[in-house]
Amino acid sequence: MTDAPKTFVVALTGGSGMPYAQRLLQVLVDAGHRLHVVASPTAPEVAREELGVTFDVRDGGSLCRALLGREPASVTVHSPFDFAVPIASGSFPHDGMAIVPCSTGTLGAIANGISQHLVHRAAEVCLKEGRRLILVPRETPLSAIVLQNCLTLSRAGATILPAMPGFYHRPKTVEDLVDFVVARILDHLGVPQTLTAPYGQSVDSGVQE
Ligand SMILES: Cc1cc2nc3c(=O)[nH]c(=O)nc-3n(C[C@H](O)[C@H](O)[C@H](O)COP(=O)(O)O)c2cc1C
Repeated sequence: MTDAPKTFVVALTGGSGMPYAQRLLQVLVDAGHRLHVVASPTAPEVAREELGVTFDVRDGGSLCRALLGREPASVTVHSPFDFAVPIASGSFPHDGMAIVPCSTGTLGAIANGISQHLVHRAAEVCLKEGRRLILVPRETPLSAIVLQNCLTLSRAGATILPAMPGFYHRPKTVEDLVDFVVARILDHLGVPQTLTAPYGQSVDSGVQE
């Protein structure tokens, strides 16, 4: 724990990139932060394909066990069909929201103010309240429609943080690549992290290489 506990919203949607979500949740829980988690109705299908786990989006316990291997008291999971929860309201204060992975469908819904499920609504609330909102799409290539939606969201105050790992830290494993993207998400949530060092520094010493 290197930081005072904060409260974050983490949303999972049906884009590819579930290992990023799993790692982000693990790091935030281990760092002692409070989490509100919501998965879209399509997220379990992708999680099954990519992580080999199963969970029910209405059953918070099953999601925590599938992605964290336990049910931490600091994690509250909401059904995507329930709008009568704190994160659906601007009156509930929190320190930022990350949508990891973010499908182009959810990206488009938020860009156009369409709240079909709680992920969209919680993101809409972030924008109207001027809170940190990070979207992590994986899609490639990007159509003009998606690029336009990204620009709309960026202008509205969101951060578009594509799942694009760099290679200058000489990754050796898939986990290294995952950590690269998760480190950037943590940086933008304002959470101190030691997963990867800033370019030109070592993680352990912080000394210029
Ligand atoms: C295995 C799998 C991988 C997918 N990968 C992506 C992806 O990378 N990006 C994307 O936008 N949609 C992807 N999709 C499609 C979305 O899940 C689909 O558009 C869904 O309606 C998104 O809804 P949601 O944003 O509410 O989760 C994928 C679907 C499956 C089953």
